[in-house]
Amino acid sequence: MFALQLKNISKTFGTFKANDGINLDVISGEVHAILGENGAGKSTLMKIIFGLYQPDAGGEIFLKGKKITIPTPRFAIKNGIGMVHQHFMLVRPFTILQNIILGVEPRTWFGAVNYQVARAQVTELAKTYNFNIEADRLVETISVGMQQRVEIIKTLYRNAELIILDEPTASLTPQEILDFYRIVENLKRVGKTIIIITHKLHEIKEIADRCTVIRKGRFIETVDVATTSEEELASKMVGRKVDLKVAKADAVPGEVVFSIEDLSALNDKHILKVKNFNLTLRRGEILGLAGIDGNGQRELVEALTGLRKFKSGSIKINGKEIGHLTPRQIYESKLAMIPEDRQRRGLIMDFKVKENFVLQRIEKSPFSHYGFIINREMEKFTESMMERFDIRPRNIELNARNLSGGNQQKIILAREIANNPDVLIAFQPTRGLDVGAIEYIHHEIIKLRDQGKAILLISYELDEVINLSDRIAVIVDGSVSVNISHETLVTHENIKEYIGLFMAGGKA
Ligand SMILES: Nc1ncnc2c1ncn2[C@@H]1O[C@H](COP(=O)(O)OP(=O)(O)OP(=O)(O)O)[C@@H](O)[C@H]1O
Ligand SMILES: [Mg+2]
Repeated sequence: MFALQLKNISKTFGTFKANDGINLDVISGEVHAILGENGAGKSTLMKIIFGLYQPDAGGEIFLKGKKITIPTPRFAIKNGIGMVHQHFMLVRPFTILQNIILGVEPRTWFGAVNYQVARAQVTELAKTYNFNIEADRLVETISVGMQQRVEIIKTLYRNAELIILDEPTASLTPQEILDFYRIVENLKRVGKTIIIITHKLHEIKEIADRCTVIRKGRFIETVDVATTSEEELASKMVGRKVDLKVAKADAVPGEVVFSIEDLSALNDKHILKVKNFNLTLRRGEILGLAGIDGNGQRELVEALTGLRKFKSGSIKINGKEIGHLTPRQIYESKLAMIPEDRQRRGLIMDFKVKENFVLQRIEKSPFSHYGFIINREMEKFTESMMERFDIRPRNIELNARNLSGGNQQKIILAREIANNPDVLIAFQPTRGLDVGAIEYIHHEIIKLRDQGKAILLISYELDEVINLSDRIAVIVDGSVSVNISHETLVTHENIKEYIGLFMAGGKA
């Protein structure tokens, strides 16, 4: 029995076909993965199912065998469809409980919100599915993993039978991901149907029963996950063979270009998060900083890029102290950054692609001349960068918001590389990217290295750190707990477990 069937669904934006005749069969009670490159049209398709977009004429949607149209999200919810978006949509100054019941609050006989009943219902739900939530905390104070649980409970509170999860693990920590897998198992156990978008192939193997591949807006095929390898999934999705491992020559480190000495910094709550941190980077090497989320990585990056005043210590590029400079001056000292949160730090979502490409350089030549912006130069530059980095669609006038997540990330990378930095800080550079794009970005980072740049890679994904780095430092509780040499990195038999122990607080 099918929970949902789509037949020949298309969606056109202007002249661009984001979905082109897509067919999808989702069996009741299964976990159905959707796989496709950045910009393939996955989120668009999900928004059609949730009533956020109307498909072009000519397609059909069947819910539990019955042909319907889904005019609004309200209608979708009424018919048992729930969706957790790629970027969460909770009301930050509200509590968890308020967010869960928002718009469907139980009322007392005189019309006030009945928090007592709501609290009992939510507690019951949390118990059934083994969720661990604190209902009275403000959403703005909780972790991303917790926000996601709140979003899922929100759909359950509205009695969703079919739950759409758009890249649910893209910004979770490895531990939160394990918790998330358990939640999916629980949902499946009680008979919910789940559609999940993810770029992580091992995750599809882990939790999905079947997988539908789409490429450039078109349906390719639906496969049984158990009998399809990760390599097969990758090549179906990209349409060519993809290297899942990074191939690179040994680094040839040159002189020291970047040094951090005894750096200490507080977080917003005045807690010391970076503690006498020391690190030295040479030209021509990639230094990976491994560590569990929350060990000071964020505060460190903010201090290094001038976004956070630090307490003590020194930061030098090419021997020149930059610690007291503004973010703009630091950028001009040839330090580039791929930020962790592209929507808040990397891009201005309501600016056009071409404007985002020249953000930090708009009043410089060739983009300005005697205070006038030279539109043609900005456009020429943007067009060439979009070509070189294969950013899709090739439309420089689109707002950043209307690009897929992966293509947004490519803009940041392209822009930062174009400034010809000496040092690149890459903070979670491939979060939310498809395997083809990851391969591409890894190659670009290695290319930079081979041109004599220094790269500081900060990632919560140990696999990525091990794969890409020439040597590794582990950050625990705000300081470097151990340095792992290139030699150890390439010869150690269980390098992942070995580093994992240090990350968990083990001592050298
Ligand atoms: N409102 C819009 N206006 C114009 N183009 C749009 C709009 N929404 C999406 N697109 C385009 O449609 C294509 C598909 O976007 P979509 O967000 O569905 O991709 P995706 O498969 O979810 O990618 P990702 O993995 O990066 O999230 C993209 O090229 C995007 O730029
Ligand atoms: Mg998407």
